[in-house]
Amino acid sequence: QSGSTWSDRFESSLNPAIAQFNASILFDIELLPYDIQGSIAHAQMLAKTGIISETEAETLVQGLQQILAEYQQGEFQPGVEEEDVHFAVEHRLTEIVGDVGKKLHTARSRNDQVGTDIRLYLREKISHIRNHLRDYQQALLELAENNLETLIPGYTHLQRAQPISLAHHLLAYWEMAQRDWERLGDVAKRTNISPLGCGALAGTTFPIDRNYTAQELGFERIYRNSLDGVSDRDFAIEFLNAASLIMVHLSRFSEEIILWASQEFNFVTLKDSCATGSSIMPQKKNPDIPELIRGKTGRVCGSLQGMLMLMKGLPLAYNKDLQEDKEGLFDAVKTTGACLEAMTILLTEGLEFRKQRLSEAVTEDFSNATDVADYLVTKGVPFREAYNLVGKVVRTCLEKSKLLKDLTLEEWQQIHPAFEQDIYHAITPKQVVSARNSEGGTGFEQVKIAIENAKLLMNQ
Ligand code: ARG
Repeated sequence: QSGSTWSDRFESSLNPAIAQFNASILFDIELLPYDIQGSIAHAQMLAKTGIISETEAETLVQGLQQILAEYQQGEFQPGVEEEDVHFAVEHRLTEIVGDVGKKLHTARSRNDQVGTDIRLYLREKISHIRNHLRDYQQALLELAENNLETLIPGYTHLQRAQPISLAHHLLAYWEMAQRDWERLGDVAKRTNISPLGCGALAGTTFPIDRNYTAQELGFERIYRNSLDGVSDRDFAIEFLNAASLIMVHLSRFSEEIILWASQEFNFVTLKDSCATGSSIMPQKKNPDIPELIRGKTGRVCGSLQGMLMLMKGLPLAYNKDLQEDKEGLFDAVKTTGACLEAMTILLTEGLEFRKQRLSEAVTEDFSNATDVADYLVTKGVPFREAYNLVGKVVRTCLEKSKLLKDLTLEEWQQIHPAFEQDIYHAITPKQVVSARNSEGGTGFEQVKIAIENAKLLMNQ
């Protein structure tokens, strides 16, 4: 069977193991709907330019539509007797419509064909992933709105630094997702270019109309250079880069949720609907979902690396190496979408912030020390001097096992006469957060503005 694919140049058929090795049908069957879409546009163009007749084109289109229906009903399942989806469709078409099916491939190569398929596929998937990103952003935003005044320790070096609004923390992930959303929009522009009509590498002798097929398929423009058109996979690399970044962002968030759910932090409880148990330790509740997201990040980043390495040594134009562009790409599309969905569910119904514990956490340490220094600065003490004074205070407190809020006014005034009664208010966690009202800061007024801005950007 494999041997019959090729022209009469070939005398005998492929070694079966080699045929299997060479075949992509087991994974590129996923491109079938896009392959049909591309072939329909191609057939219509062939008729419009007079290369085939209108009746022939109609027959081809009907046959192609039938194959799509068969595929959707699970009735079309070619195996490795077909090398790839393109041959599988062409062979089935000829079975259905007879010899006219053999005209479909006029003025076309599998090289521009597969390039078209993969762009149509990715264009659609990019739009799905952007929708998933929007859902995820919406979940973040709702959680942020409900937690404007929930305070949580903010960290640098994973050491408690300054308390912040939980909403501010969540909105940082919203911002990353917003960049991801924009980035994918940019990738879509360079994905949405038609290579159809580039032929095998050099164009075709037939009077085709590339702009017609491009328009029919919703492409924004056509590749200007046929060699580039059939061998460019930059858009796939760009997509994998964007997907890797999405995953890296989800992975950072996952890591935080895992930490927060640990007994050491104890900031969040995972609800039963989103947590798992242990097969041996009855007391356990495990954060499998964020752990899996963190783990799957490796796969997507690996696919990016794989695609870069796939391309680095390829001479122009098409090389069979390019058949290897698919599995990593398909996997990244599925993994990224699934992780965004899982994280959205986790945010929507899976997390219960332990407010009591959080409010203790922002009171039990020296994360208000900067505010004492800032207080002195407002009383005219130069910052560096204030900073050193407060360092001394912290040391004294540590020696006496006291917190800043426990110092008496006398003790404050021994440190510096500028301290007055209002120091106690200045160092309450709520005031500490509220006072950071600089643009983009955690102050409640700023966070409210950020929430409004986020809503505006999401409606664009
Ligand atoms: N299955 C091939 C791929 O995925 C289709 C293109 C094959 N072209 C060729 N000249 N062998 O890339």
